[in-house]
Amino acid sequence: MEPIIQINDLEFSYTVEEDATPIPLFQGVSLSIEKGSFTAILGHNGSGKSTLARMLNGMLLPDGGTVTVNGMDTTDQDSQLAIRKTVGLVFQNPDNQIVSSIVEEDVAFGPENLGLPSDEIRKRVDHALQAVDMLSYADHSTNRLSGGQKQRIAIAGVLAMNPSCLVLDEPTAMLDPKGRKEVLDTVRRLNREQGITVVLITHYMEEAALADRCIVMEHGRVLLDGTPNEVFAHRQTLEQTGLTMPAACQLAYELQDMGISLEPFPLTEADCIAALEKTLSK
Ligand SMILES: Nc1ncnc2c1ncn2[C@@H]1O[C@H](COP(=O)(O)OP(=O)(O)OP(=O)(O)O)[C@@H](O)[C@H]1O
Ligand SMILES: [Mg+2]
Repeated sequence: MEPIIQINDLEFSYTVEEDATPIPLFQGVSLSIEKGSFTAILGHNGSGKSTLARMLNGMLLPDGGTVTVNGMDTTDQDSQLAIRKTVGLVFQNPDNQIVSSIVEEDVAFGPENLGLPSDEIRKRVDHALQAVDMLSYADHSTNRLSGGQKQRIAIAGVLAMNPSCLVLDEPTAMLDPKGRKEVLDTVRRLNREQGITVVLITHYMEEAALADRCIVMEHGRVLLDGTPNEVFAHRQTLEQTGLTMPAACQLAYELQDMGISLEPFPLTEADCIAALEKTLSK
């Protein structure tokens, strides 16, 4: 597989006040994100997830090491626009990302800034709204939408730039369960059906369990990295760092302590039910 994003020996410090000593966050992080993959990034508050997200499209630049997007170095001024078009960022609060009072105008904002011809803008807006299942809301007012709908409009705004990669920083954190499901279903569909690479930062283990790969960060380092099955198999490490596990996984571990093994080890509710049925019918 080919990487879309390659991070090599990334070093980064925040300088809080002008003359203060910089506080190091990343001290040699290396990882790559494969094209078309769905990666979840987990970790405690302050572990560096949002900072990493901002590194992926050049919003923040490394102090040392490199971040490349499709081979373009984020520190290369001439590649800045191409990088921002390739990697689209979606943030936690949908209200902060919506710039217009009408849905389709909001989604058109990015392509308009690129100076694209109006028929191309129309095409992109319709396509993006279709992709997030909001086409029928094109002429609606943005402030009457639910949180989940607003977040899908924010995603459509990014999609209208034709990105190959979406980086979403806790996009469901401010949503109710219905909104969370709408957004997550949308993100999964974009990954599966349109081959868009997804990097999803989340506090919800259930969401992480749906990814191809989970990365757990701690104090600016990669603590665990693997498939959800591999990562959630590190029960002790996860418990020691105080991270929760998907409910299905937690239940399976508790049953295991009682001498009951669920096979295959479940991460999702559906898998858990299937494994329980199999065990109970033995
Ligand atoms: N603009 C900033 N200036 C100074 N320090 C910062 C800044 N932004 C973040 N930090 C510090 O860098 C570290 C990592 O922050 P970051 O926001 O990347 O973590 P996070 O994993 O996204 O946390 P959360 O789960 O709370 O969103 C924290 O210690 C934080 O205090
Ligand atoms: Mg954050």
